[in-house]
Amino acid sequence: MGSLPIQATETIRFGTEATYPPFEFLDENNELTGFDIDLAKAICAEIKAECTFSNQPFDSLIPSLRYRRFDAVIAGMDITPDRQEQVDFSMPYFENSASFVAAKNQPFKSAADLKGKAVGVQNGSTFQTYMIDKFEKHGVTIRPYETIQNAFLDMTNGRVDAVFSDTAVANDWLLERGKGEYGHLGETIRDAEYFGVGYGIAVRQKDALKDKIDTALSTLKANGTWQTIHDKYFPE
Ligand code: ARG
Repeated sequence: MGSLPIQATETIRFGTEATYPPFEFLDENNELTGFDIDLAKAICAEIKAECTFSNQPFDSLIPSLRYRRFDAVIAGMDITPDRQEQVDFSMPYFENSASFVAAKNQPFKSAADLKGKAVGVQNGSTFQTYMIDKFEKHGVTIRPYETIQNAFLDMTNGRVDAVFSDTAVANDWLLERGKGEYGHLGETIRDAEYFGVGYGIAVRQKDALKDKIDTALSTLKANGTWQTIHDKYFPE
């Protein structure tokens, strides 16, 4: 029997920002892991493509996608009208909401009490835009950080009074590092204008990759793979 022809496989190059557990982070062996990473690998398996990942600052992900440094972004990224002017998104793959986190032993008990306080956000995130639009005029100082973990760290050091981020990421931090001393400040926020309708995988506008990813996502939702990945990172 002759040897099989060598099949050229498609490679999908993903960009991400991996300090965002449980969606994307480096494990104790410095391996990239998380809900988004497992989902991206499952999508690649469906499409029969190879997957590669680059890790870089969040605010550089959309510019790098447009410059073709990679083909897709999976980074807990909200599908917002603003971003849709620059990139296309897959169907939503995760339901999101926004949360403030602060120390339990302080006098402010709701977001309305943040006047005169400093709030940490991730640079380039939807939380940064929301804070600038809705809170800056009420005397709240907004401090952008390259990673949300540094914002949380600065909160524990007393340099910011609260952190505003994704509820699932806030919950992960509260569980791992909050030591029971920190909690949610007020209600979680859903505002489609700012936080869109869930997380999506970004691709370049009109790229046929979008349809392939959507087909794969539909299959993974229908056959239970999405749920298995979900339960791995969000155990009851
Ligand atoms: N969900 C927020 C946004 O879309 C923040 C995402 C940050 N993701 C990350 N991998 N650091 O702007």
